[in-house]
Amino acid sequence: MQQLHTDFRDPQCGGRIAFPDRDAPAALTRATEERGFAVAALAPSQPPDDALAAVAAALGLGTPYIPALYRYPETRAYSAAYSHIRSDPGDRHPGFSTTAGQAWHVDGLLDEIGTIKTTILYCVRAAHRGGDTLLFNSLAAFAELRALDPDAALAMQSPKALNRRSTIPAIGVDADGPVFARDSFGAWTTRYTDNDTCTWNFAEGPPGGLRRGLEFLRAAAREPRYRLAVSLRPGEALIFRNDRLSHGRQPYEDTPAAPRHLIRALYADGPTPQ
Ligand SMILES: [Fe+2]
Repeated sequence: MQQLHTDFRDPQCGGRIAFPDRDAPAALTRATEERGFAVAALAPSQPPDDALAAVAAALGLGTPYIPALYRYPETRAYSAAYSHIRSDPGDRHPGFSTTAGQAWHVDGLLDEIGTIKTTILYCVRAAHRGGDTLLFNSLAAFAELRALDPDAALAMQSPKALNRRSTIPAIGVDADGPVFARDSFGAWTTRYTDNDTCTWNFAEGPPGGLRRGLEFLRAAAREPRYRLAVSLRPGEALIFRNDRLSHGRQPYEDTPAAPRHLIRALYADGPTPQ
């Protein structure tokens, strides 16, 4: 997988791909395969739902995927195909509705590893200050861990290594799973998460391995070759492989008249140009 050898310090990682140029679907797919993500630049005047639908259609992503957590009666308010991410003091979603930072995670805390392959974040309005999306090439860091500490890498693949639980006040549900696993084609996938949804089961795998692995990944997530901040402008869509990268967010400040507003859509498929 090319993404295992990518270096986020490469200036090309900051590039935008104009959409809907004729070559855009192929270029976006290629970039996503090489780095785990790509940024498409669309006309900001276009209705956001149309922009998202156009990008999804061009990349063969199908219809948006509703995460398992949002299929309960208690969480139905979050089950729309497009999730609006903006500050809302009246809402208690711990990620969507606050201006706080978000630590490393993958989307879909109850879904089996590898299920949600693509996340798109479309920027309607940027924050007054902060709010960059952070990307961590957790698969590349894990490749390094496999070479350096095979026991730690093995512990990360234990089926109960990482428990994730809902932090939405209305519902208490959780799911166990490995931190890294191969998919049916032999490609590595990740659900590396290091936030307040996590319980690490340090007894799993070779003794001490999971703790060493977590420490290694925490350090790797601070290295510029593995970590990138993406500052989205209005009309830009960040497309990333949710099964191959972990992501987070910097805290941000709004101006009341023009608050930050992103729209998120999830897909079970990866990009394939149509
Ligand atoms: Fe997320």
